[in-house]
Amino acid sequence: MRKLAIIMAALALGAPAAFAAEGGGAAAWQQWHAGNELGDRASLQRGARNFMNYCVGCHSLKYVRYQRVGEDLGIATDIMKANLVPSGAKITDYVLTAMPASLANASFGIVPPDLSLITRSKGSDYVYQFLKTFYLDPKATTGTNNLALPGTAMPHVLSDLQGLQRAVFGKDGRFEKFETDVAGQESAAEYDSFVRDTVNFLEYAGEPAKLHRATIGVWVVLYLLLFTAIAWLLKQEYWKDVH
Ligand code: HEC
Repeated sequence: MRKLAIIMAALALGAPAAFAAEGGGAAAWQQWHAGNELGDRASLQRGARNFMNYCVGCHSLKYVRYQRVGEDLGIATDIMKANLVPSGAKITDYVLTAMPASLANASFGIVPPDLSLITRSKGSDYVYQFLKTFYLDPKATTGTNNLALPGTAMPHVLSDLQGLQRAVFGKDGRFEKFETDVAGQESAAEYDSFVRDTVNFLEYAGEPAKLHRATIGVWVVLYLLLFTAIAWLLKQEYWKDVH
């Protein structure tokens, strides 16, 4: 029991430590945590905006409707229509990319995957690491490579925000650190938040019902308590004449 408590404490302390190490120790990128909060509605709203501005050009969320996003994230219908639903699409439509598969294939040699379930299949931390570890690579057709998905066909579509970084590898070929080549519009902290919000939204998209599960649970428990009370009263009533 003591041992378990120590391990738990070490894990709890380890998370922020890995996070703080990002600046000096990008070598530990595989331990980076997304640290996103599904309960943070403002973050989810920013994530939805990020997705519609930077991702839907190539990626779909084929199980998610705009309307549901608006309802779940508390975004009014007129704001949804004005800002998040692309012109030509209806609010009841699914979030689908306008890019035809044939064009994607011709451009990237692969069709960008649907991202509805990406955080469930690969994890939120993975998507966070993926979006933060693009680096310049003159040998890559896109001009950039990625630590989380080496040789990826996805271009660094967020380079205007993050800037461009070089990767420094040691003699043994192990990744050591990033060096800024071109500064982006955002500071490192701002880009970090941008990615966290985007991952948060993708995690929500993977299971929209998660947002409501806790509230539903409370009602279920209340119902069960009420039902128990009624059953008990009924039993008293039936048995009161039996001696
Ligand atoms: C210009 C087109 C394009 C845009 C815009 C784009 N992607 Fe991609 N994305 C791709 C392609 C192509 C792949 C397939 C990469 C591969 O398999 O090598 C991909 C793959 C991915 C993957 C899967 C990685 C894996 O391990 O399989 C994730 C996650 C992803 N993109 C996230 C995003 C997010 C988040 C955005 C918006 C910030 C975005 N993408 C914007 C083209 C794009």
